[in-house]
Amino acid sequence: MKRKLAFLMAASLIATGALAGCGGSKDAAADANQDAAADANQDAAADAQQPAETTGGTLRMGTNATFPPYESVDDNNNVVGIDADIAAAVAEKLGMQLEITNMEFDSLIPALNADQIDIIFAGMTITEERKESVDFSDSYATGIQSIIVPENSDIASPDDLAGKKVGVQTGTTGDIYCTDDLGEECVQRFESGVVATQALVNGQIDAVVIDNEPAKAYVAANEGLKIVETAYAVEDYAAAINKGNTELMDKVNGALKELKDEGKLDEIIKTYIHE
Ligand code: ARG
Repeated sequence: MKRKLAFLMAASLIATGALAGCGGSKDAAADANQDAAADANQDAAADAQQPAETTGGTLRMGTNATFPPYESVDDNNNVVGIDADIAAAVAEKLGMQLEITNMEFDSLIPALNADQIDIIFAGMTITEERKESVDFSDSYATGIQSIIVPENSDIASPDDLAGKKVGVQTGTTGDIYCTDDLGEECVQRFESGVVATQALVNGQIDAVVIDNEPAKAYVAANEGLKIVETAYAVEDYAAAINKGNTELMDKVNGALKELKDEGKLDEIIKTYIHE
């Protein structure tokens, strides 16, 4: 709802001609992203962790580990974070071995649909559009789409993004909202929020729209950036499972409910998010 309002206001600003400011180097950015994506996809195959062999079977989880504190890669190339811990706790409850594969965010749903993985834990937001190709578990966390800008930026709310160059991670809700609200020509897509934030630091774009928790991590890791106080949208994160796989869905929802009732879900989240 909030987002729609921002959209309407942004749309009217665009109609007055602010759009002219944001054309430019999109093709170059797209090419660079494609190369990066190809590299990352090659890596992804090598990244499968903990090969399976347990009596309860294997839970093949896909994620995109560029998204702290939900998922990132540690020094030993293991995927760590809130999603990895929750998935491990779910797998344990189900007597299953967890196997994590790290891939591009926009490869996750295709990989699930192609049966290369069983479940996505990736700070993935429940959206109506995604529900056409996957089923979502009960939500296990809340996310907020935030705006990262340079400290001296005049962007103070989502409405101020009209006519600016905005960086997003390809295929995320930040991408979808900005493309809808600002128009394709204002959006620059990157393989990850980290790379988008680097482009912001280098002055190639005016803002990055991304989930609040990774935004905090990116701002902490770079000088001269801040998060705009007015958020873009509030969202629910859930695991995604193939449509019709009710057997796994029921098991996962059962496990999530137990973890919630035991206080374990909160405990995991609080290990990574201190407020
Ligand atoms: N919540 C956003 C979405 O669902 C961004 C998720 C990005 N996650 C990641 N692991 N990179 O589109």
